Amino acid sequence: RNPELDALLQAHEWSAKLYHFLLKNTEHGKPAMEYLKARGFTDKAIDQFQIGYAPARWDTLVQFLDKRSFDLGAMERGGLLASRQDGSGYVDRFRDRIIFPIHNRTGKVIAFAGRILGEGQPKYLNSPESKLFIKSRTLYNLHQAKSSIRKTGQIVLFEGYGDVISASEAGVHNGVATMGTALTESHAAILRNLADEVIVCYDGDNAGQAAALKSIPILEAAGFQVKISVLSEGLDPDEFIQKYGAERFIRQIIEGSVSSTKFRLINLKKNHIMLGAGEDAKVPFIKEAMEVIAPIESPTEREIYLKELSADLKVSFESLKQECNQFRTDLQKKQQDGDNNPKRWNNGRHKK
Ligand code: UTP
Ligand code: MN
Ligand code: MN
Ligand code: MN
Ligand code: MN
Repeated sequence: RNPELDALLQAHEWSAKLYHFLLKNTEHGKPAMEYLKARGFTDKAIDQFQIGYAPARWDTLVQFLDKRSFDLGAMERGGLLASRQDGSGYVDRFRDRIIFPIHNRTGKVIAFAGRILGEGQPKYLNSPESKLFIKSRTLYNLHQAKSSIRKTGQIVLFEGYGDVISASEAGVHNGVATMGTALTESHAAILRNLADEVIVCYDGDNAGQAAALKSIPILEAAGFQVKISVLSEGLDPDEFIQKYGAERFIRQIIEGSVSSTKFRLINLKKNHIMLGAGEDAKVPFIKEAMEVIAPIESPTEREIYLKELSADLKVSFESLKQECNQFRTDLQKKQQDGDNNPKRWNNGRHKK
């Protein structure tokens, strides 16, 4: 038991209730409520995710916490308040922002994310890291998603709060999100305790697709079977659901998610098309595709991807297969050379 941590947990719980109340029941909260409604957030979602509003004042939380005899210095260290620049006391950290409470695995509020209403920087202001809140180990909505994750054996991994909430409204209850940071090994390990399969459902813009590619080795190293959603038009999952509806989201984006190999190949192809080349662009594309396909252990799996590639590029299956086998021979050689190279034994991970 740590009294400062207990007080901080209590303060987060009560602050979340206060912000939620202010959004739903006060004049101050009206523009925020209108903003949420315009984005398609339902009353049910606002309640279920305990969404709130921090008014455009400096002392809403300062007054509230002070009246309840919380140590304001401890509240500043815990990220709820900020110190005045002249050192003469404290001000609220979150002002005029939509509040998304962030819960730990057992459902206790440990941090807040505050979204600006409309345009502006930063779009999201998050609680700083504290003893309570470690971003590399926190996943948004895990406390609510975990029963559905266990039931389905599957996790859907999103980038943003809005994506998790809209997906849940669409009937996808096994969604979680990282906290605006890249996926870590700790995230993967935490999730791996709950399920075998993960669907990476990141934004359709370049940043989102690049982040999806980076997440693949982390998730595969944790032992996950990885699927990736392919979002088009640069839409994020929330925008897709608002535009095309729940049914199409589930069919096209969740059930239509592809293997990590297929996703890598789709991405390669997109890059080569963007380079705008003709027939002769096939050669470098095939080389890069082989780097993806050749290391696959299963011969049938390799054959499936080679057949697709053959149909796609109008190049004979036989020549692609030869190319692939050549790649495998080279790969095996490289591995053997590496194993026989004494230098590797000195600075590799064998040395302990
Ligand atoms: P996005 O830029 O995709 O935002 O960032 P979003 O979730 O779609 O937000 P809306 O729909 O415009 O409201 C994805 C995630 O990255 C983090 C947040 O966790 C966000 O949900 N992020 C983004 C930040 O922490 N700070 C920022 O300024 C922006
Ligand atoms: Mn909605
Ligand atoms: Mn994004
Ligand atoms: Mn987004
Ligand atoms: Mn969004």
